Amino acid sequence: MPWRRLLCVVLAAVALAGCGGDSFSGAERAAIASLSLATLRPVQPDPTNRFADDPRAAAFGATLFFEARLSRDGQVACANCHRIDRQFQDDLPFGVAVGETRRRTMPLAGVAYNAWFFWDGRRDSLWAQALAPLEDPLEHAGTRAGYAQFIASAYRERYERIFGPLPDLTGLPAQAGPLGTPPERAAWEAMPEPRRDAIDGVFANLGKAIAAFERTINPAETRFDRFAAAVSEGRAPQGDAALSPDEILGLRLFIGKARCSTCHNGPLMTDGFFHNTGVPPAPGKPADLGREEGVPLVLADPFNCLGRHRDGAADACGELRFIVKDAPELKRAFKTPSLREAAGRPPFMHGGQFKTLDEVVLHYMRAPQPAEGHSEAKPLLLSERERTALVAFLKTLGE
Ligand code: HEC
Ligand code: HEC
Repeated sequence: MPWRRLLCVVLAAVALAGCGGDSFSGAERAAIASLSLATLRPVQPDPTNRFADDPRAAAFGATLFFEARLSRDGQVACANCHRIDRQFQDDLPFGVAVGETRRRTMPLAGVAYNAWFFWDGRRDSLWAQALAPLEDPLEHAGTRAGYAQFIASAYRERYERIFGPLPDLTGLPAQAGPLGTPPERAAWEAMPEPRRDAIDGVFANLGKAIAAFERTINPAETRFDRFAAAVSEGRAPQGDAALSPDEILGLRLFIGKARCSTCHNGPLMTDGFFHNTGVPPAPGKPADLGREEGVPLVLADPFNCLGRHRDGAADACGELRFIVKDAPELKRAFKTPSLREAAGRPPFMHGGQFKTLDEVVLHYMRAPQPAEGHSEAKPLLLSERERTALVAFLKTLGE
């Protein structure tokens, strides 16, 4: 019937023009496009890791990521905490392995886009990051000498095909490393410097292989991305890409009045920097000063960009050379997390302080005084409906 067709044409035109309040201004369209996965560029090369994009290294790195023998008790693999079926995290407020850590396990999709790693940014490359849990007494709790011998016995051929010959390991103590038990530390100190350096080289290569694998972990397209694609092409979003009026209200708040996108921006919805947002300390844990602790640690890390085990030239080390230090805003500042698929991985924040997204939004509304330092969050006046709308929008980023 012609009147029905007419109705359809009118409805489609209304949907396109957005008479339900969802016609976006030019600035809103630009903001929406900037958050869309379509604007994510391929990950930058990492000149400090010459194996970063070597598929053999990535395959070896994947093996190591799941290798529980790469730990003191033979029980801990990266994948225990970074679970592939759980967005590479574990749903716990604090990561648990040989011991319980004081922070929440971070998801890994898009991790290679970061300049700084961990909640406090205490490592400056993906490969240097991977070395930290291997010798952290609460995580894999192993030693560098132990790992070199394990690789020689279990993976010599695979290792050597990628990285060249392993150094001579005869007479090496079974366990020795600068972060081990007192006897393991003494054994490490007793080793001649060139030998320590050769072992460090093997250890660094394990990190480089794991990093090559992690570089392949990418965020998935979400409902929001399908919606954003339609908006930027001037099409009416179809099917699940059509956001509800509440979701659209939440989006408008996110990029507008609620100022979320001042920190959660770009296609990964993070600026990659550190902010104190007044999140309360994690109960029962020692004081966590966040970036203020991370800065001296990354500067002292022997595997940082200026260290001996970097590949390529030192001109790749701009981030480290120009690091912000001794600034009051670093106190209790934590890295802005990506909000992609965040809805599906409670609890939230660096110590799992909030159980629901509703609690997160309530926190931003109240913007309480931080335990220490200065919070960048400002109180927000949001109605009950706006609060729910913000949560509804966050869910369109994947669950
Ligand atoms: C005990 C559980 C546990 C194990 C085992 C573990 N991690 Fe983690 N991972 C964490 C926690 C907790 C954090 C955050 C810690 C912090 O900020 O101090 C983290 C942070 C990270 C980050 C930083 C992500 C970012 O956005 O900055 C990467 C990458 C990572 N882990 C990779 C690995 C790799 C590779 C291994 C194996 C060599 C591994 N993890 C082993 C719990 C674990
Ligand atoms: C000043 C920068 C800043 C602003 C503004 C900001 N955030 Fe955050 N956001 C952060 C930081 C930093 C964290 C991690 C804080 C922590 O763990 O202590 C975070 C964490 C989160 C988390 C938890 C994610 C996870 O995986 O744990 C959510 C959800 C979130 N923010 C949503 C929002 C929303 C919604 C708004 C707007 C109302 C907003 N943020 C405004 C910086 C900001």
